[in-house]
Amino acid sequence: MHTVITFGTFDVFHIGHLNILERAHALGNRLIVGVSSDALNLRKKGRLPVYSQQERMAIIRGMKYVDHVFLEESLELKADYIEAHHAKMLVMGDDWKGKFDHLSSLCEVVYLDRTPTISTTSIIEVIKQR
Ligand code: CTP
Repeated sequence: MHTVITFGTFDVFHIGHLNILERAHALGNRLIVGVSSDALNLRKKGRLPVYSQQERMAIIRGMKYVDHVFLEESLELKADYIEAHHAKMLVMGDDWKGKFDHLSSLCEVVYLDRTPTISTTSIIEVIKQR
């Protein structure tokens, strides 16, 4: 079993999110996704996501590329989550490049190129301006 794990907020689900889930899924045979909690987002970004953690988890769980979803309560617990889920590979977007290299003693760490020009933040800005 080659388990791949990835993490994210996945708020206002968009094509960049779908692309990274599809590519992470292709790197193993089981994909586990840690969806960051509302409280974690409030702490780190100073605002709550538009969609609640229950909604964001339900959307990710509904993706055909995803085998299991859990709530990521702290950015500092990645090593614990990797071990608890027996992940062989951690996949992150390259906005995190280098930030998780210290976890390579636990599993392979892979950074994938982000899909250009789209983000949750930019979608919210576009909607605000309409
Ligand atoms: N991601 C991606 N391509 C994008 C946007 C996101 O590959 N254009 C990836 C991120 O690298 C991350 C995952 O999708 O691995 C979840 O990203 P998240 O931070 O939830 O999405 P963003 O759109 O970057 O959100 P924000 O604008 O709030 O930072």
